[in-house]
Amino acid sequence: MTVMPNSTAARDVAYHLHPYTNAVKQEAEGPLVLTRGKGIYVYDEEGKEYIEGLSGLWCTSLGFAEERLVEAAARQMRKLPYYPSFGQKVPDITVELAERLVKLAPVPMSHAFFCNSGSEANDTAVKMVWYYNNALGRTAKKKIIGRVKGYHGVTVAAASLMGLPAFQKDFDLPIANMLHTDCPHYYRFGQPGESEEDFATRMAESLEALIQLEGPDTIAAMFAEPVMGAGGVLTPPKTYWEKIQKVLKKHDILLVADEVICGFMRTGNQWGSQTYGMKPDIMTMAKQLSAAQMPIAAVLINQRVYEGIRDNSGKLGTFSHGITYSGHPIAAAVALETQKIYEERKILDHVRAVAPLFLDELQSFADHPLVGEVRGVGLIGALELVKDKRTREGFDPSLAVGPNLIRIAHDHGVILRPVADSICFCPPLICTEGQIREMFARFRKALAETQQWLKSQAVAA
Ligand SMILES: Cc1ncc(COP(=O)(O)O)c(C=O)c1O
Repeated sequence: MTVMPNSTAARDVAYHLHPYTNAVKQEAEGPLVLTRGKGIYVYDEEGKEYIEGLSGLWCTSLGFAEERLVEAAARQMRKLPYYPSFGQKVPDITVELAERLVKLAPVPMSHAFFCNSGSEANDTAVKMVWYYNNALGRTAKKKIIGRVKGYHGVTVAAASLMGLPAFQKDFDLPIANMLHTDCPHYYRFGQPGESEEDFATRMAESLEALIQLEGPDTIAAMFAEPVMGAGGVLTPPKTYWEKIQKVLKKHDILLVADEVICGFMRTGNQWGSQTYGMKPDIMTMAKQLSAAQMPIAAVLINQRVYEGIRDNSGKLGTFSHGITYSGHPIAAAVALETQKIYEERKILDHVRAVAPLFLDELQSFADHPLVGEVRGVGLIGALELVKDKRTREGFDPSLAVGPNLIRIAHDHGVILRPVADSICFCPPLICTEGQIREMFARFRKALAETQQWLKSQAVAA
């Protein structure tokens, strides 16, 4: 990419530090500048069209430029553009959203707490777990378990909880009391001859061993995504959640379901927890809560956790946790309208209708020489690229096969996301069958070009 002097790209390089970006590459190459979006498409400065195959960051469920959300925001902005929920005051629209979410939960939940991002929601949930156990006098029960390859956000507790070392290195993380149990990725970590069910049993035994090593009375909660999104769309092995939950229950360890990606129909049910039979005590959610058109996130807590927090706040004088924009009325209005659209347009039925085609299209790459594993559920999936299909050996990371393929895919008009050499797909929930076919057709061309490039480097067959 050539960066023209005084262009938007040049000013971006000069003034803007990007999140999750190699700043050296950004200085040398500049950004792709997007100027507008419509439906599942976005357009760059030159007017080139792209299918947004990852819904931005797994979030634009209703695509881009949904007029009803524009109206909802404008209406609320005219009526009551801001009011805090601190103390005993609250914008009416925030109450409406809290009630709707509690009623939508897959298991009985009691109250909703609002934040602005998934990271904040998970940090809030960590603090709630600590506060709750202090309230019960369980002052030693404080350690939190995450999973290798889990992603929970970038704030201090959430980044400590996740199992992706890149987000901790040189940030002096993780903080104390954060533990990590195994990654349940059968293709990578299953042993030769081990069935998926036996692998799940081993994962549960490993969790039990970790708990015994640390002492069950020191473990407060386990945080987990139903499908591990940013770890590479890792779907759990059969019987995994049933076995893991048995261990947690035995030791009175809370389960926190991180529904930030899976929530709101992504896996073919309202919640990822329903797809995998999870019964969480706490749920965190963001992204598709508002179709990503306003920053808003929520933490749902069950009655038991609520009562602990309530009683302790009474004792201490206040629950001293809150954000200026907790339950921001404009964000709440957009989230509420998003939920109404989901219901009125029967988005869940639509997802269930198009998901089989999406998964078939993914599966059609299974025999490709570069594809080691095909993973997916609902409207989220990934293809893991490998150098050797038989041995499952991956490519040398210095080749950056995934990122290079993504760049080629841009040329073919589709935006996707690599997690190392796994290519992730997560189109807007509104995508039609024709658009799903088109997305994979564009990707197929990029994969063919990548194969040619690798052949020219004498790296792959
Ligand atoms: C499962 C999960 N949890 C939490 C987060 C953090 O959300 P945010 O980026 O809104 O802070 C993400 C972000 O991708 C996520 O995928």
